[in-house]
Amino acid sequence: MTVIVTGGAGFIGSNFIFYMLKKHPDYRIVCLDKLTYAGNLSTLKSVMDNPNFRFVKLDICDRAGVYALFEEEKPDMVVNFAAESHVDRSIEDPGVFLQTNVIGTGVMLDAARKYGVKRYHQVSTDEVYGDLPLDRPDLFFTEETPIHTSSPYSSSKAGADLLVMAYYRTFGLPVTISRCSNNYGPYHFPEKLIPLMIANCLNDKPLPVYGEGLNVRDWLYVEDHCKAIDLILHKGRVGEVYNVGGHNEMKNIDIVKLICHELGKSEDLITHVTDRKGHDMRYAIDPTKIHNELGWLPETTFKDGIKKTIKWYLENRDWWEEIISGEYQNYYDKMYSNR
Ligand code: NAD
Ligand code: TYD
Repeated sequence: MTVIVTGGAGFIGSNFIFYMLKKHPDYRIVCLDKLTYAGNLSTLKSVMDNPNFRFVKLDICDRAGVYALFEEEKPDMVVNFAAESHVDRSIEDPGVFLQTNVIGTGVMLDAARKYGVKRYHQVSTDEVYGDLPLDRPDLFFTEETPIHTSSPYSSSKAGADLLVMAYYRTFGLPVTISRCSNNYGPYHFPEKLIPLMIANCLNDKPLPVYGEGLNVRDWLYVEDHCKAIDLILHKGRVGEVYNVGGHNEMKNIDIVKLICHELGKSEDLITHVTDRKGHDMRYAIDPTKIHNELGWLPETTFKDGIKKTIKWYLENRDWWEEIISGEYQNYYDKMYSNR
């Protein structure tokens, strides 16, 4: 079994590669990644010498390059993680989001069709459903919730999902889609809430909370997401969408306070800054379908997951310090200095 994993030098893709190489020691995993600012080859160093693993630096929008790779590898399955993934960047510069997330997905779908892959899996997000009001805790996103996006990021992911479903209906391409809630864990790029707050806490820097910090996200430990994708790939029904989330809703401000507490830092580091434009209030997944059909349940509680994550950032300072000392510093100054 050969599986092409796009975006495998990023946060979730790399964790998925580690999971798959361990779970399926007879599979060949080919990672295709452009190595944008979010892709980091050092993340994959522990698997680079694994004979069942190959890394290829490639843009998913490069049709000729992608076709050549499919011709050579003859993959059985494709898992498309590659994307521009940060909402704040999509507000600054939407174009690259349309290019990679929509056009790139189109190229991957064409390649999957041309070379007859047995399964094309699209890694999507709960953000395609828009947001839920804070005063309706009884409401959750199901697979039937209408697509109703807020940001250029979520719109580009929704566009990709629609294209994936169109290739199923029109061409009979065997597709599946997963829509997961916010992930956290090792190798999470430090521009996102949890790793940013851990890194800033450790450097005694202000902790920039957007607005009041009352927005709610539904956090899932990354390995639980990887398990869900593996289950969908092998047991999921073709043409179906599966929501993935573990009923772990938390307010941003409570997460930041928890990180301060775990690291023994003062909450005085918290600084309320200008809110994000179009900021989604609440995400909350109903995971009934994946639980009933595939038996999936999250295994890591937030209490354990956040401790493991903080420990990982403490033990792997080189990984994130190298990132925040480089090009990323310009982004940070631009986004936060006058906020
Ligand atoms: P990430 O930003 O950490 O990683 C993205 C990876 O894709 C990077 O390695 C980058 O180099 C690569 N990439 C970007 N553009 C590319 C291109 N044109 N060609 C090839 N590679 C390219 O993202 P992530 O957080 O790991 O998210 C992975 C996927 O999961 C995305 O599709 C995202 O929408 C989805 N998702 C993320 C979350 C989350 O909480 N992070 C939740 C649900 C869904
Ligand atoms: P983020 O990690 O960017 O994920 P997403 O926007 O895709 O859910 O942000 C999570 C939440 O944290 C979101 O409500 C925005 C908020 N946030 C801050 O308050 N401060 C920050 O510096 C960042 C990056 C995010």
